[in-house]
Amino acid sequence: MYHFSPFPFAEASARFRPVHLPIHHPDFRYPESRNPYWKKLQSFAGKVFSDNETERLRGSWRQAFPQAAAGGRLHVEIGCNAAHVLLEWANRNPGDAYIGIDWKYKPIFWAAEKAAKRGIGNALFFRAHAERLHYMFGPGEIDRLYVYFPDPWPRKKQWKNRFVTVETLTAFAPLLKADGIFHLKTDHPGYFEWMEDAVARTSDLWSVLERTDDLHQGHPDPTKLAIPEVTLFERLFIRDGLKIHSLKLQPKAPPPVSFRA
Ligand SMILES: C[S@@+](CC[C@H](N)C(=O)[O-])C[C@H]1O[C@@H](n2cnc3c(N)ncnc32)[C@H](O)[C@@H]1O
Repeated sequence: MYHFSPFPFAEASARFRPVHLPIHHPDFRYPESRNPYWKKLQSFAGKVFSDNETERLRGSWRQAFPQAAAGGRLHVEIGCNAAHVLLEWANRNPGDAYIGIDWKYKPIFWAAEKAAKRGIGNALFFRAHAERLHYMFGPGEIDRLYVYFPDPWPRKKQWKNRFVTVETLTAFAPLLKADGIFHLKTDHPGYFEWMEDAVARTSDLWSVLERTDDLHQGHPDPTKLAIPEVTLFERLFIRDGLKIHSLKLQPKAPPPVSFRA
């Protein structure tokens, strides 16, 4: 039957127009990438997960680690870059499971390549936006979460890009186990103040276990510290004489549900 539309062009363009949902939307789809490393990452099937694939095993990532012990901890590092620290941890603790997340293709490729060369089987890598962490992991799935030296976005008009916010702290708190720990480090005093302010505004969700403005105070020569005691960026900051700010958080138990008779 002939279908008459008074606005045939409008209808057609609406049908074929790609829908770009904001990154925080549950139905957000990563756009197809032209980055040459996007294809290269596919050669690490089962070890590297990209884009919406990183959300497929939400709540059951432990099943992707046949080598890790049943009671092993799940560690997640946001902004792992080429996984310098994460691979050392994984190598030293074969009973634990490690997931490194970075939005850059090339460092994730290098990380996966190094893991394969060194035969490290208890590390996986996600090429994804860590803002979507709560779509990647389920409640109580993570034992240890790390954000080391997130980009500080120092200028006021850039602050909107900062990763640690009331929104991320609120979305991530339920992902940790009751005895889980979220460890943050930065060299940037302004960003540290910003983080502490976000923590204060989510104090119903997080307790502060430890905080310091000078993590390596008392060390005879912090420039001698090596990976994984310090990260790649941390080593550079220490050499520049910058102090390392550190914050360890633990999720608070949600209040008990009260029933009215
Ligand atoms: C300053 S580097 C720090 C790298 C490493 N943590 C260290 O301390 O050596 C920040 C890293 O976070 C990654 N990154 C920044 N924003 C991100 C996001 N929203 N999701 C995933 N990775 C992100 C960057 O690609 C970069 O590798």
